[in-house]
Amino acid sequence: MRGDQNKGGQVEQSRLPRHIAIIMDGNGRWAKQRGLPRTAGHKAGAETFRRIATYCKNLGLDYLTVYAFSTENWKRSTEEVGAIMGLLKRYLLEAIDSMERDNIRLRFFGDMTPIAPELRALAHTTDEITDRLDPADFQANICLNYGGRDEILRAVRRFAAQCAAGERKPEELDEKLFSSYLDSAGIPDPDLIIRPSGELRLSNFLLWQCAYSEFYYTDTLWPDFDEAELDKAIAAYQHRDRRFGGVKK
Ligand code: IPE
Ligand code: IPE
Ligand code: MG
Repeated sequence: MRGDQNKGGQVEQSRLPRHIAIIMDGNGRWAKQRGLPRTAGHKAGAETFRRIATYCKNLGLDYLTVYAFSTENWKRSTEEVGAIMGLLKRYLLEAIDSMERDNIRLRFFGDMTPIAPELRALAHTTDEITDRLDPADFQANICLNYGGRDEILRAVRRFAAQCAAGERKPEELDEKLFSSYLDSAGIPDPDLIIRPSGELRLSNFLLWQCAYSEFYYTDTLWPDFDEAELDKAIAAYQHRDRRFGGVKK
């Protein structure tokens, strides 16, 4: 399986990012260019996700986090939202059958309360399977009804409630403790954030976690994004000088 990795030979295996996060954007424009409904773009985008997740696992990354549906995406038509949820359902059904065989862990980031009970039940099942898998296995995180601001607010509310109950003290709170209240608890911050489709913004993605992430943008629309594009993004990342506020030695 490792034979299909690093297609362009530009990725240095010794300096791989541990965690890549992707804003899977451009499905609608991809469909429009072809005279297809937006939902056809989401279907093609779901295929790209399958390919890229497999490729990330085979490359040897530890984590891939993808933005699938934001807290703002409810503004779209019921038809479009329904199509995205339907694709997620299909993916989860597949995942339930294959995660243990392929050693792929799956987690959700986001507020699952407004998600349909059927989809939530499937996510609960993938969570249980993930609990049984080896924590060292590759992990994909799907951001569903996710917003960086919403994630921070939910964390603050939970911490404040524990303070009010006398279980925590405000002065205990530091960056490490605060991180443990986020959906990404226990997961290292993304080293690299990729946004396809030419947009140069975060759109409420991983606001806390992106403090020192490297950014990579490409005009390629998500359904056209492939293994060679990911190699290009990783190679660009490997040429960056990450200083974290320090001075280069
Ligand atoms: C990303 O593609 C998928 C979601 C936001 C759910 P878009 O649907 O935003 O595609 P564009 O940006 O309209 O092309
Ligand atoms: C961000 O894309 C959300 C996802 C990819 C799920 P959007 O298409 O919703 O973002 P904007 O509206 O262009 O900022
Ligand atoms: Mg978009």
